[in-house]
Parts: sequence; C-alpha cells; structure tokens
Amino acid sequence: MTEDRPFETIIEPFRIKTVEPLHRTTRARREEAMREAGWNPFSLRGADVLIDLLTDSGTGALSARQWGMMMQGDETYAGADSYYRFEAAVKDITGLDHVIPTHQGRAAERILFRAMVNPGDLVLNNTHFDTTRANVEYREGVAMDLPCEEAAVEADHPFKGNIDLARLDRVLSDNPGRVPLVMITVTNNSGGGQPVSLANIRGAREICDRHGVPLFLDACRFAENAWFIHLREERERGRAPIDIAREMFSLVDGATMSAKKDGMANIGGFLALNDPQVVVTCRNMLILTEGFPTYGGLAGYDLEAVAVGLYEALEEDYLRYRIRSIAYLGDRLAAAGVPMITPPGGHALYLDAGSMLPHIPWNEYPGWALAVAIYLEGGIRGCEIGSVMFGQQPDGSEQAAPRELVRLAFPRRAYTQSHVDYVAEVLLRVFERRDSLRGMRMLESPPVLRHFTARLEPLPQPN
Ligand code: F0G
Repeated sequence: MTEDRPFETIIEPFRIKTVEPLHRTTRARREEAMREAGWNPFSLRGADVLIDLLTDSGTGALSARQWGMMMQGDETYAGADSYYRFEAAVKDITGLDHVIPTHQGRAAERILFRAMVNPGDLVLNNTHFDTTRANVEYREGVAMDLPCEEAAVEADHPFKGNIDLARLDRVLSDNPGRVPLVMITVTNNSGGGQPVSLANIRGAREICDRHGVPLFLDACRFAENAWFIHLREERERGRAPIDIAREMFSLVDGATMSAKKDGMANIGGFLALNDPQVVVTCRNMLILTEGFPTYGGLAGYDLEAVAVGLYEALEEDYLRYRIRSIAYLGDRLAAAGVPMITPPGGHALYLDAGSMLPHIPWNEYPGWALAVAIYLEGGIRGCEIGSVMFGQQPDGSEQAAPRELVRLAFPRRAYTQSHVDYVAEVLLRVFERRDSLRGMRMLESPPVLRHFTARLEPLPQPN
C-alpha cells in the first residue's frame, strides 16, 4: 500500500495565503465549556476548540482558484451561468444525465427518498450514514446495512468498505418488489472511512441488474475512494483518479453528493440521476423546499466553488497528502498500541473506544467518554460513532451499537503536519491514563439523531 514517489511529495502540496488564529484555552475553561455544553461536543462553541476534528464536512480551506471563480458567481435566479458551469462539472465527472443542485447531501437524500421510497420499503446500503438512515426511516422505510464480512475479520483488508455481494443478492431475492434502490456509500463513513473497490461496485451493478433494482452512490468522498482504488486495487493501480471516478459513476443510475466533502466547498451538494421520470418528481420537491432547479438553495458563488472543487479533489498531489496525513497519525498511534480501525480511513481516523476502555459498558457510552477526555486534555474535538449515535431504536428502546468509536475527521487543506503531531501527543497522553476515564449518563435524548443535541453528564469516579 505504499508507492515510490519523489521526495518532495511528502510535504503539503500548497502554501497558505490566508490564515486564521487558533483558539487556545486552559483546562479549567475547557471543563467549564463542557459543562455549559451538556457534555456534548456538538454543543461546544468553536471558540473553545483548538483543533476541530468534529467533521471534514464544509470545514476545508478554499483554493485561490475557487475564490477567483466565486467572484464571478452569477446570482441570476433562473438560468445563471454559475449553474451551467456547475452542471458541466458534475456531468463531466459523473456522466449522469440530470443534475439537481441542493444545499447539502441530506437535502439530496430527502428529495430522492421522497420520490423513490414508500412506507415498508427496504433500502440497502454497505452502511447508511446517519442522515441517510434517518431519511429512509422518515419515509417509514427500513434501512438495512450490508457491510462485507472481511471488514470484521481481516485486520488489513484493503477494501473494508465493500458491500456484501452475496447478502445483497440474497436480500434482493427474498424481497422482490420491496427494494426501491440499493446504495453504496463511498467511502464507507460509518464503517470507518473505508473504501469500496471498483470490482465490488461492478459486482453490485450486476446483481442489481439481475433484480431490476437501481443502484445509487452516496458519493460524498468519491475522490478519496478513487485514490484508494488507485493505490490498492490490483487491476487499477496507478490509474488517474478522475478516470477511476468516472468509472465508479458509470456503474450507477444516480448519486447523492455532499459537496462539503469531496466538492471541497463550505456548502453545497447535488442529486444526479438518469431516470427521466424520477427526476421530474425530484425537481418538484426541490422547488417546494430548496429553490429553483438552477440554484437549489445555493448562491451562484457556492455553485462556482463546487464546480472547481470537484476537480481539485481529484488532483493526485492533493489526494496523496490528504490520505498520507491521516495514515501518519495512524502510524504514530499504532506504534504505541492505541486501538483503532486499520487501515486508517480516507478522511478520518477511528479510535476504538470499546477496546481501549473495556471497563466502561456500552450503555455508559465509552466512545462519548473518550471524545470528552480528548477535548479536556488538549482542546481537540472529535465525534462519537457508537451507542449514542446509533443505539436509539425507532421504538425508543436502546441497543448497543456494533462498535464504540471516536472519529477524528480532518478538514481538507486546513491543518499542517505540526497540528497532526500535536493531535498525536494529546491522544497518547489520554491513552496512557485510559484506566482513569469514566462513563457517561444520558440526561436528555431527543427522538431522532440524538447525538446532535443530547445532554449527558459524567458518572462519578468510583471510590
Ligand atoms: N452521506 C455521508 C456518507 C456523509 O458522511 C454525510 C455527511 C452525508 C451523507 C450528509 O451530507 O452533511 O452535506 O447533509 N457527513 C458529515 C460527517 C456530516 O461529519 O460525516 P450533508
């Protein structure tokens, strides 16, 4: 999984034209901030965070080229030039026939599922992201995850994001007429930011064709996925990321996209698809809640940022730096024995809080406890992906999530290697005193997507 490369490619492939100060805080202030936030990192103020790894979504730095095109943003309500530049970029990369801009990924999901999912339907995905699952369930559909088994058993499998093709075939055979679409999420965010191979997407295409079911990509991190294919897939090694991306999209009937990830923009997204009938329903839904079909809730300058960003996300120097900086953090932590999902993901490192904190049971939320401890130690904000995020069932009961993780997601082009070194130091310090961490108790828990607004408190230290 390494490659020969010239020495100069180990540095960040950009220099910095605009800067913004980091916010230093004391430990006392961080404790106070956590109390004020109901012990929920989502409720912290950004000003209380030093290194923000909560998400890679909409948090990256724009390029000079993006800013330049943004000055040319055309704010015409209908038929703006900016829309046509956006549409041309999306069509060039995806090859899909119809392009609907949306303000972000979940708007594309909501509109697509409104058009395609009916109560009782079954939607299949390698692993649904939380908003994707919530949007299926909001339509009273059932969201079923079909992650490949290798992900659980083979430590270093190169494509742990793959969908389980045998199960896909079986579930489609067992549920004729009940599955309106199959989705593949690239990279598989909730499964650890792990990539999906081209062979796997081809396999899913063949199975979906046999069952007459459309296949969609949740394409948020399509460029990172293409880079992993370039690095790891035998038959595709060294192929240009843009060619790989084009082939990924050529295998599907449509895609939802959050341009806040591999669109390299601060806001934006799209729904792209081939079906001329479904697109009519989707456009009508778009007009109802998002805006006219040539802006979809975005400003002209946002469309420009995405039109440039989609190509920048596919540049090899950028992708090499991007994936390498996360792998570098992974190497440092692995050397100290910190448990995590390996190999590291494309946009994030996923710490395995379940293994690190065996003294904290799932219903005292070990991932949440670890995220809180990392913040208190060094002002670094990460995000639990465990039983707070996924434990709540539609009927209100609780179940253990499959894993208790903390995701450290890296904004694009925003932090340098010395920031990553600082993150490693803080994590190693927390790891050293892991036995002293305590669990959390849930105080207030809203009925859906509770992790965003829940209030918790730390359990007292046993005497
Ligand atoms: N699909 C995946 C795989 C995602 O990771 C996200 C967002 C979405 C859909 C929804 O897109 O936020 O633009 O509405 N993920 C962010 C994250 C929030 O932090 O992983 P959105």
